[in-house]
Amino acid sequence: MTGVYGGAAVSGVGHTAGDLRLEDWRRLSPDQRDAVRALSIRKDQVDFAGTIDAAIAHCEADDGSAIVGVAILAGTAVVGFLLVKRGGSAPAWVPGDAAIATALRVGEEYQGRGIGTTTLVMLPSWVRSNWPDRKRLVLSVDESNRAAIRSYAKAGWIDQGRYPKGWFGWERRMMKPLK
Ligand SMILES: CC(C)(COP(=O)(O)OP(=O)(O)OC[C@H]1O[C@@H](n2cnc3c(N)ncnc32)[C@H](O)[C@@H]1OP(=O)(O)O)[C@@H](O)C(=O)NCCC(=O)NCCS
Repeated sequence: MTGVYGGAAVSGVGHTAGDLRLEDWRRLSPDQRDAVRALSIRKDQVDFAGTIDAAIAHCEADDGSAIVGVAILAGTAVVGFLLVKRGGSAPAWVPGDAAIATALRVGEEYQGRGIGTTTLVMLPSWVRSNWPDRKRLVLSVDESNRAAIRSYAKAGWIDQGRYPKGWFGWERRMMKPLK
């Protein structure tokens, strides 16, 4: 599995300015893992992304064949994290040939600087390299999460429409072809 994928330039990341790259959780150093654990988002944003502890537990429970934790690195700083899932680990609505990006978060102090958008631009290449059997990437986002929806649309993801979310509310599903 490719360890580091990236090279996309990120502007406005202050002292961490440099290339943005994606790194498998299992290849992170102990310090980098601690930095992932320390990633903080606003309390109301945890409703959208879940807790970082839950995300780490998910990827640690798998051997990497179905769930991979992906850290977002800018220079030497860990600025975000997400999970990529496929097969039976993905929600039932995810097409059999797809992978899903989920639990994405950018640390609060790094938000609004293009990191989320750039990550969603880079992620298809990461999946093509690591899971070449996947034909598309999908995600679902709470309909009220306007910053996330705007970010994903800017990254070129295609709106697949609005779906009921559990007992109440709506989620928007988005897709990026990989072939
Ligand atoms: C959603 C998220 C991943 C986007 O990443 P990001 O690096 O902050 O987003 P970007 O800088 O690429 O910008 C995306 C758009 O949202 C806006 N935005 C992002 N964060 C914002 C914030 N905290 N406040 C206001 N606007 C914000 C940006 O201005 C931009 O829109 P614009 O360029 O048209 O003005 C990030 O904000 C985040 O981690 N949020 C909390 C968890 C979450 O909602 N995860 C998504 C689960 S599906």
